Amino acid sequence: DYTAASFAEETIDKLKKEVGNEKVILGLSGGVDSSVAAVLLHKAIGENLHCIFVDNGLLRKNEFEEVLEAYKGMGLNVRGVNASQQFYDALKGIKDPEQKRKNIGKVFIDVFDAEAKKVEGATFLAQGTIYPDVIESVSVNGPSATIKSHHNVGGLPDFMKLKIVEPLRLLFKDEVRRVGKTLGISDKIIGRHPFPGPGLAIRILGDITPEKVAMLQEADAIYINGLKEAGLYDQVWQAGAILLPVQSVGVMGDERTYENCVALRAVTSTDGMTADWCHLPYEFLGEISNKIINRVKGINRVVYDISSKPPATIEWE
Ligand code: XMP
Repeated sequence: DYTAASFAEETIDKLKKEVGNEKVILGLSGGVDSSVAAVLLHKAIGENLHCIFVDNGLLRKNEFEEVLEAYKGMGLNVRGVNASQQFYDALKGIKDPEQKRKNIGKVFIDVFDAEAKKVEGATFLAQGTIYPDVIESVSVNGPSATIKSHHNVGGLPDFMKLKIVEPLRLLFKDEVRRVGKTLGISDKIIGRHPFPGPGLAIRILGDITPEKVAMLQEADAIYINGLKEAGLYDQVWQAGAILLPVQSVGVMGDERTYENCVALRAVTSTDGMTADWCHLPYEFLGEISNKIINRVKGINRVVYDISSKPPATIEWE
């Protein structure tokens, strides 16, 4: 792919000139954008790129460990930070979706700032911002969106005073993926579905507990692995399970159960701004439903979301 390859080459050259011998901090999310931004910078400035990957306790099952390993395997200078408990504490009893986002954003900034301070003498903050983030600032991937609402009082955290470098600012998602491919990044990272910064917190309707997170992680893993095994994952823009604040009656053997309900969502889209629900095969949905109900304790009902955006959104919160 000539266009993507020459973009990568030119960008690496530009980054070398722009950054010189200075140190850059970058927050990795596990997503495509921050990963591609990191590799471009790594090729330009090597060990002067310091990556920080925060476990907010709201990622998919095993995601943090697996992605951290993948990053290390790519030679990135990355520090993994487990801050789950801080996020759970800040979310305790919170039901309102926007309040969840604000509290998560605030903890993220505190955790990230503390880590960033450990990189002495850093002068740049790199971000994986892509073009749709620039035009639709509503759901920016990464810290910048939430930062604004939180730190206009009391001054900015130190890392926000760094010079910003955004090598993907003019690209769309498919272009980012093509650039990533020419850089030799594995399909496992390049092909990932988008995943929201607040993670499973906005896929658990109502308040969040570590138990609910664990339950949803199990259901989500069965669903996502099922999509991969059935060869459906790459046909879907984004998919995930949502834990509903609903209990309903079921039967298990001779027992009457009164347990939780999970909704499955899968959409096709080109940029996330509009989306259609995926017509996944009934057989597939039936299999996944059985597996979830049989294997995940606390769930006795599975439903499939057939709403498109607009008027529904991709996420339920
Ligand atoms: P909606 O639900 O608005 O989602 O149709 C559109 C895309 O944005 C993602 N999304 C978010 N990403 N922080 C993020 O980083 C957020 O607060 C957030 N809310 C939604 C969503 O997963 C989808 O890809």
